[in-house]
Amino acid sequence: MEKLQAALDTARKTRSGVPKGRIATPSGRRIAPGDGESLSVLWRELAPFDVDNTLLETNRIVSRAANSAAAPFDILRTKALLQMRQNGWKRLAITSPMPSSGKTTMACNLALGLGRQRDLRAILFDLDLRDPSVHEVLQVRPQASIGRVMSGEVDFADQAMRFGDNIAVSMAQHAEVDPARLLLAEETAHVLDEIEARYRPDLMIFDLPSMLVNDDTRAFLKNADCALIVARANTTRYAQFDTCEREITEQTNVLGVVLNAYRHAGKGGD
Ligand SMILES: Nc1ncnc2c1ncn2[C@@H]1O[C@H](COP(=O)(O)OP(=O)(O)O)[C@@H](O)[C@H]1O
Ligand SMILES: [Mg+2]
Repeated sequence: MEKLQAALDTARKTRSGVPKGRIATPSGRRIAPGDGESLSVLWRELAPFDVDNTLLETNRIVSRAANSAAAPFDILRTKALLQMRQNGWKRLAITSPMPSSGKTTMACNLALGLGRQRDLRAILFDLDLRDPSVHEVLQVRPQASIGRVMSGEVDFADQAMRFGDNIAVSMAQHAEVDPARLLLAEETAHVLDEIEARYRPDLMIFDLPSMLVNDDTRAFLKNADCALIVARANTTRYAQFDTCEREITEQTNVLGVVLNAYRHAGKGGD
């Protein structure tokens, strides 16, 4: 356990020491990532997309505008940001013990809520590669699938899409054949480092698979600074939650637990 922790610490130190030299943009220009003006250009060059508000509501994405429905996600966003800043963390994994717990709903709500924080930038990655659904929830089709970005075949600049000025989303087009290999790969870690160095997001959110159904999330967690566990009321069993939390703790920090779809007694509806 101590050895694992030491290895993780070393990996994180190496990661934060990613060379921040001059990097070629897709158009071939060379920019210094620290340059605010060039950074804005890089973000502006990502293909923009917008989503119909009715569709968002249908898919339970309620955080685009500040209102009472968005309030719980705003609280979560602020708490997560504060805790992550205090610890110097930028990479947030979202997982759950079992599928259909609300991970993607949570990840999209967090991302769109962060869109209202004009002073920061965030990137959402759909890495639930067996069952990707961010593109379905947002009804957007990227030019290529996120798997090709992670394997280094396609540049993030040509694949990720921009929501508003400050949120980038790297989505899938389809499920991948061998997700665990991709999520475990050194190349994936390297690509993420490059994206972080080039786009300098304040937050990177990873919508991951459930912990207990396969090895995908275990394979990836070394790339995250912390994880949020989504448990679903009346569905997730305590033993599942307990195993999930223990396994995450072996690989990264648990930022918190969200109990999704909990209804107060006597209150119906959503
Ligand atoms: N709080 C909630 N109340 C009711 N339905 C929800 C809630 N959160 C998510 N859902 C629905 O549950 C289903 C699974 O959610 P999803 O976010 O796709 O889960 P996961 O990504 O964990 O598989 C979706 O149809 C989603 O709209
Ligand atoms: Mg999902």
